Amino acid sequence: MMDILEVACLILVTGAAGYIGSHTCVSLLEAGFDIVAIDNFANSKPEALSRVQEITGKTFSIHSVDMLDAKALDAVFAEENMEAVIHFAGLKAVGESVAQPLRYYENNLVSTINLCKSMKKHHVNKIVFSSSATVYGAQEQVPLREDMPIAPVNPYGQTKAMIEQILRDIAVADDQFGAALLRYFNPVGAHGSGRIGEDPQGIPNNLVPYVAQVAVGKRAELTVHGGDYDTPDGTGIRDYIHVMDLAEGHVKALSWVLNHTGAEAFNLGTGKGSSVLEVVHAFEQASGVRIPYHIGPRRPGDAARSFADPSKAQQVLGWRATKTLDDMCADTWKWQKQNPNGYGE
Ligand code: WQD
Repeated sequence: MMDILEVACLILVTGAAGYIGSHTCVSLLEAGFDIVAIDNFANSKPEALSRVQEITGKTFSIHSVDMLDAKALDAVFAEENMEAVIHFAGLKAVGESVAQPLRYYENNLVSTINLCKSMKKHHVNKIVFSSSATVYGAQEQVPLREDMPIAPVNPYGQTKAMIEQILRDIAVADDQFGAALLRYFNPVGAHGSGRIGEDPQGIPNNLVPYVAQVAVGKRAELTVHGGDYDTPDGTGIRDYIHVMDLAEGHVKALSWVLNHTGAEAFNLGTGKGSSVLEVVHAFEQASGVRIPYHIGPRRPGDAARSFADPSKAQQVLGWRATKTLDDMCADTWKWQKQNPNGYGE
C-alpha cells in the first residue's frame, strides 16, 4: 500500500500521455500527488490522459506543449506552482535514433535543457529522470549495477547518458538540486483495468507489443532475433518489468528526491532474466493463443543477456518489483484484446 500524502504536492509530468508516463500519472494521483501534464502528442494521444482521469476519478491540467518551444514551456512554469518534475518526454526508438541522430540529439537534449532552465528560473530543483538500461550498452557482465561503466551504443542511449551527466553537473553546481536517474530495463504490461497500455505507432520494435499483435491476428508471426546466443534456449535474455511496478518506482523515487539533494542512478528492474521463448510461452499461457514464430538472424547491437541488480533501489528507495512475467502477459493481453487499435486514430 502506498503512503498517502498529507499535503498535496504539485508535480510536472512531461511526456505524461506516453506509455510509462500515463501509468505513472495513475500511481502519482493514487498516492495523493497533484499533477500537471505536458505532452506534444507526437507519439501519444490525449485519450490516454482522459483514461487516467477515468481510472483515478481525478482531473488535472494538460498542456499541449513541445518542449523544444522554450517560451511555451516556461509559460507552464509561470502558470503552475510545481514542487518537482518527472521527465519522460523524449524520442525513444533505438533503430530510428541510428538513422536520425541529429533529430534525437536535438529533441532529447534541447528539450531537457529548456526544462532545466525553466526549473532554475522558477526555483524548481527536484527531478526524476526517465533514463534507460540502454546506457550500459552491450555489457556482457550481468547483473548490471549502477556503478558499472556507461557505454551506450546508439544515439538514443547516448542522449540518455548525456542527460544523466547534465543532471549530475547541475547537482554539483546547485547544492539544493536533487535528481533521481531511473534506468528502466524492459517495461511491459498494462494497468489492470485494461483501459491504458502500450500503444506503439506502426510496427512495434519491442518484443511484447509485437507478440500481443500476433496474438490478436494483427501480425502473422513473430521473428525471433537470433536463436544461437549463449543462453539456455539460445534466445536473448532480458529483465522484463511490469509497467505498474515501474510506476510505483517513480513514486518512491519522487518521495526520495523531495527529501534529498545530489544525483543518484537507480536500476528499475526485477533482477530476473527471461528469454524470448519464455516470454512467448508465457504469453501463450496468458492468452490461450498459439504464437507462431520463426528464428531469424540476430538483431545488430543486441546483447545476449541484460538484467538488473535492483538492490540499490530496494535499499535506498524502499522499492522492489512484485509482479511476475505471467502478470505482465495477462495484463498486456487484456489491454490488447479490449483495445485492438490502441487509443484509436
Ligand atoms: C527484447 C528481446 C530481442 C523484437 C529496447 C531498447 C531499450 C528500451 C527497451 C527504451 C531481445 C527480442 C524483439 C522482436 C525478438 N527502450 N526480439 N523479436 O532491445 O532489450 O530494449 O527496449 O528505453 O532502450 O533497446 O527490447 O523488446 O526490442 O527486445 O526476438 O520482434 O526480444 O532480440 O532479445 P530491448 P526489445
